[in-house]
Amino acid sequence: MDKFIVNGPTSLQGEVTVPGAKNSISKLIAASMLTGDTCTFSNVPSIADTADTLDICRALGTRFETPEPRQLTVRTESIRHSEVPADMALKNRLSVMMLAPLLHRTGEAAIHAAGGDRIGIRPVDFHLEAYRQMGADVQVVDDVYHVRSDGLRGAEITLPYPSVSATENILLAAILAEGRTYIRNAAIEPEIIDLALFLQKMGAIIDQQVDRTYVVEGVKHLEGATHQIIPDRFVSASLGAAALLTHGDVFVKHARQRDMLTFLNTTRRIGGSFEIESDGIRFFSQGRLKSIALETSVHPGFMTDWQPPFVVLLTQADGMSVIHETVFENRFGYVAQLRTMGADIEVYDACLGGAGCRFAARGHKHSAVVRGPTLLKGAQVTVPDLRAGFTQLIAATAAKGESVLTGIEHIDRGYEHIDDTFRQLGASIVRQKAD
Ligand code: EPU
Repeated sequence: MDKFIVNGPTSLQGEVTVPGAKNSISKLIAASMLTGDTCTFSNVPSIADTADTLDICRALGTRFETPEPRQLTVRTESIRHSEVPADMALKNRLSVMMLAPLLHRTGEAAIHAAGGDRIGIRPVDFHLEAYRQMGADVQVVDDVYHVRSDGLRGAEITLPYPSVSATENILLAAILAEGRTYIRNAAIEPEIIDLALFLQKMGAIIDQQVDRTYVVEGVKHLEGATHQIIPDRFVSASLGAAALLTHGDVFVKHARQRDMLTFLNTTRRIGGSFEIESDGIRFFSQGRLKSIALETSVHPGFMTDWQPPFVVLLTQADGMSVIHETVFENRFGYVAQLRTMGADIEVYDACLGGAGCRFAARGHKHSAVVRGPTLLKGAQVTVPDLRAGFTQLIAATAAKGESVLTGIEHIDRGYEHIDDTFRQLGASIVRQKAD
């Protein structure tokens, strides 16, 4: 395990290129396993999450090559095993996405419950219920999902909440099912549209209606396809927040305005500056930041993944900001450590935001009050999850003195060579073996 030693403060300056989206590539690879043909992806992020996904696929029978950087060719001629064991499943959220390829190609799946960031309970009940509705036999024994089907059938599925991965999982199940599937109250995140576009290239018929409904007409056969992955809008926003927090000036090449509308509006509301250019977005500091009341939501709302880096930015804004997290119940896990760095943040179990929150009266600390501006100082911190880790990293870059970050494997899961990137932008950061 490695750690980062960061000496601040540094004002980040320069240019950085955003790779493809972490939350697209893993699902695209799962989709590629629905055919025995070759699929080719470009703009592939070189992150630990991609490697963990490929480990699972390799164990099931996928062969892959990386002919050049950011290119990936995958082919699953046949499925060797219909089981995803615990050691692989626990590394990320992908294991449950293997249900569709395994069921369509072998008729059975035994999948250990997924791991991933501990930002909430993260059940997969919506996924499993949808497979039941499509005619599969689903049993859960000791954290293993045992699913069998002699052919999935189309169904009318209404999700209790617009879950990203449940929507994606049902799309994968429905495209080779018999008949038509309606997915209502579905998620419409850009990564899901990216998946739908790739599936269309493979031969799927997926209509998107205006009201969060997808209608999928099952087809008999899918073919190999080639796809360029969309830029990672969470990495783009993270780097934007880093530039503003450190009073810097960073051109985030390939950041796409269309996927970041709400982030950019919110940035402007607090007084953050940016310029949209033809091939990216420049974030720069100009004047003081203002406080805000903010609620996270599903797309096109303010994404939960933008919340942690934005909160550290709000520690530098004048006045009191209020944040209501409505997507994951435990997404303020980084706050205690930011407080040791000097941030003035309190977390509450009350809903400090709109009505209808799923976490009301359940005791989860899912609201925060941030008072700023506060001087950040270096500290020893342990990274609890991916976005929290990036947040701690930018706090350390902005802070006076030395910070030591352990648990940085969480950051490596989703941010490509982040220490090299930060060094290029002027930060003093060293990667060392942890003791
Ligand atoms: N939920 C259920 N039951 C389900 C599925 C979801 O109750 O069967 C609940 C979750 O517990 C959560 C809410 O629904 O409260 C939303 O969860 P969702 O399924 O949308 O999240 P996810 O698919 O597990 C993906 C991303 C997350 C991102 C969220 C929200 C991947 C691999 N992960 O998670 O990304 O925060 O959507 O946009 O696509 C990250 O990149 O760091 C990350 C955590």
